[in-house]
Amino acid sequence: MLRIGMLTSGGDCQALNAAMRGVVKTLFTSDTDVEIYGFLEGYKGLIYSNFKMLTGADFSGILTKGGTILGSSRTPFKTIKDPDENGVDKVEAMKQNYYKLKLDCLVILGGNGTHKTANLLRTEGLNVVTLPKTIDNDLWGTDMTFGFQSAVDVATAAIDCIHTTAASHGRIFIVEVMGHKVGYLTLNAGMAGGADIILIPEIPYDIDQVCKAIERRHKNGAGFTIIAIAEGAISKEDAALSKKDYKKKLEKSPFPSVSYELADQIIKKTGYDVRVTVPGHTQRGGSPCPYDRVFASRLGAEAGRLILNGEYGFMVGYRNREIVKVPLEDVAGKLKMLEKDALIIQEAKLIGISFGD
Ligand code: F6P
Repeated sequence: MLRIGMLTSGGDCQALNAAMRGVVKTLFTSDTDVEIYGFLEGYKGLIYSNFKMLTGADFSGILTKGGTILGSSRTPFKTIKDPDENGVDKVEAMKQNYYKLKLDCLVILGGNGTHKTANLLRTEGLNVVTLPKTIDNDLWGTDMTFGFQSAVDVATAAIDCIHTTAASHGRIFIVEVMGHKVGYLTLNAGMAGGADIILIPEIPYDIDQVCKAIERRHKNGAGFTIIAIAEGAISKEDAALSKKDYKKKLEKSPFPSVSYELADQIIKKTGYDVRVTVPGHTQRGGSPCPYDRVFASRLGAEAGRLILNGEYGFMVGYRNREIVKVPLEDVAGKLKMLEKDALIIQEAKLIGISFGD
């Protein structure tokens, strides 16, 4: 009998259910007897022993369903070793619950923070297999994370809608795209949506260059400009500040996010009419796109195969078009960012997209 614990941690995204379904279908297709324990709301469920036993029926019909049937929450790694408000040692509690249920393995689906905790549990002696989820695609060790392509679809749809209105009104439109501290989502949605200017954290922008790019378009007869800006984008001046000073600046800023500050600067420098659109959490929502359904199923299948083989301590990732297993200790604590001179950025520049640099 194999006893498998499963949890989804951190921000949700599309295809979490598809990935879990892939794991469970693989296990149930084998000749092994399997019990699945679903921990609710991420690591919280494991800490406080909040779980439900799941059967094949729970995983039926969820391939196309967004969100996560297990619920999720953020349990910051930074404080994972601190006791909770009632003095509970969270790491010890997770270990005890794992042993009490006689689990053979934990399947953990999550992004960067989740992987740090997963690796900690591995070092504490638990068997762990993880799957890379995040719309940000910023997880080291995998070329792609599930959720990303679906989020690109949503963000692109937002830019497409803005495009028609921008053209009708001859305004500057700024669309703020999620992605935390990296620009994958903005770059891909920006290119797919035909944005004229794309601003990403990896390339701090010069406001004068942004305004120049706008003026150039106007001179060439384009009555409007679409700017796709990553929520983590940063100006050259801000990038030159120390971390502490930048934090102070943000605390005092009257703007809710970088796109509003950019809008204010563009209005002051050019006098043009500017509007900001923030699709926000819609980018994590809805049904996974076909790519993610297939991708998450493949990752899930490989995770299932690893478990059946007793191979633990890996994240199942995707590198050079192959599904691979990546040691958890290599993944934990590393952020994957875009290279400033990545081919895709060079190509975007060749077709006239400005990065404000
Ligand atoms: O990591 C996914 C993500 O959606 C990021 O793009 C974004 O910065 C963050 O989560 C938002 O987190 P929350 O849902 O906690 O506001």
